[in-house]
Amino acid sequence: MIPWFVGSVVRNEGKKFLRFTGDVDLSQLSSEGETRGDRVSLYIHIPFCRTLCPFCCFNRYLFKEEQARSYFIDLRKEVDMYGALGFKFNDFYFGGGTPTVLMDELGDFIAYLRAKFDVRRISLETTPRELTPDTVAQLQTLGINRLSVGVQSFDNTLLKAMGRTLFKGEDSIEKLKLVQGKFDTVNVDLMFNFPTQTLEQFRSDVKIFKDMGIDQATFYPLMPSPHKMDALERKFRRVDTSREKRFYDIILHEVLDSGYKPATAWCFSRGDRMIDEYIIDYDDYIGVGAGSVGFLGGDFLVNSFSLEGYHNLVAQGKLPIVRMRRLSELEHCRYYMLTQFFGMGLNAESFRKRFGADIHSKLWAELIFFKMAGIIQERDGLISVSRRGMYPVGTMMKEFFASLNTLREYCIESGI
Ligand SMILES: C[S@@+](CC[C@H](N)C(=O)[O-])C[C@H]1O[C@@H](n2cnc3c(N)ncnc32)[C@H](O)[C@@H]1O
Ligand code: SF4
Repeated sequence: MIPWFVGSVVRNEGKKFLRFTGDVDLSQLSSEGETRGDRVSLYIHIPFCRTLCPFCCFNRYLFKEEQARSYFIDLRKEVDMYGALGFKFNDFYFGGGTPTVLMDELGDFIAYLRAKFDVRRISLETTPRELTPDTVAQLQTLGINRLSVGVQSFDNTLLKAMGRTLFKGEDSIEKLKLVQGKFDTVNVDLMFNFPTQTLEQFRSDVKIFKDMGIDQATFYPLMPSPHKMDALERKFRRVDTSREKRFYDIILHEVLDSGYKPATAWCFSRGDRMIDEYIIDYDDYIGVGAGSVGFLGGDFLVNSFSLEGYHNLVAQGKLPIVRMRRLSELEHCRYYMLTQFFGMGLNAESFRKRFGADIHSKLWAELIFFKMAGIIQERDGLISVSRRGMYPVGTMMKEFFASLNTLREYCIESGI
């Protein structure tokens, strides 16, 4: 009941994502760059994949070499524009798509970042299929700190249902053996509540992850955009969200109770806290590349999703931001609370520094509700998420991502 309630509140709030406006006012960017430019992380989107998974809602296109090479040139130009505005990034997150589709371009791009910024940490996503001894050695040389591998499942029947037919579960295991111990953190992405997925299949995926002693796993509940949902339901009948909690309980029992620590409600690590989500680690982030979304000082900034639109704007020396939404102060406080709770806790002093006010006065009704529902507890200025609160907090985040997916689908289909 509580997860449903909090999820529906976020879902309704999330609909406001569709109220993004095309009147883009970037006047605050240079002052943000000058005042807070060293406390902003950089997300770099590489939207190319060798095959396209039917369930995926990210901005991705079938890989074409020439197009991808010219895209890397545009990326540099876009980063240069942020550099000129005073941004000094230290923390970088390459997501996709598949950032490793062109290793030579990736290498040159990282060298360029190192020449321009004080690079402290690089996170990078890839698929198991991309990992050869050669690419792994190159990624090590490039100084990738956190390597995230999208396994989705080790179960071949499920992989087939997901449309990931070219790579088998046993091959993923071999690829993971190849990367283990070679990076500060190796993460695997596993999905749950996919139609046809059984609890037993998921339990077995979790067991393989644990038995292999992989550093970190991020468990994604299926979050289809509206049209992807229709397509999945035509193929498999119903996407049944009522089963989701039973999958999540497996994570709590098999992962959390085995000593893994939650970095977020979906990401669990062995040993020290290893952060997964750039939106949790940094309050503000800039996104570069086609279809990336940034968040800066209360503004969501959305880049052109179309490769052509992206290229045309960058070629004219313009930032490719085509939509934005300025949050009201209350929305901004709530967004901050949501992301911090997803990261398992909120520091009241950090809230005061960001908003110049006490969280208990700004969000008193929300805090009372969350406390009464047993979702959070407060001690010495730290508001932390309880074990019982993890699923509802994940549900809130899922609804937030679902509204982003709706926005993505709208932009992709409208050629924005
Ligand atoms: C953008 S993908 C990049 C990883 C890489 N391209 C791959 O597929 O292996 C990051 C992760 O998002 C998750 N993901 C993609 N589409 C999803 C969806 N519709 N619902 C839930 N998770 C999804 C997958 O677990 C995937 O590994
Ligand atoms: S899940 Fe990964 S490989 Fe599949 S289409 Fe999405 S980004 Fe590409």
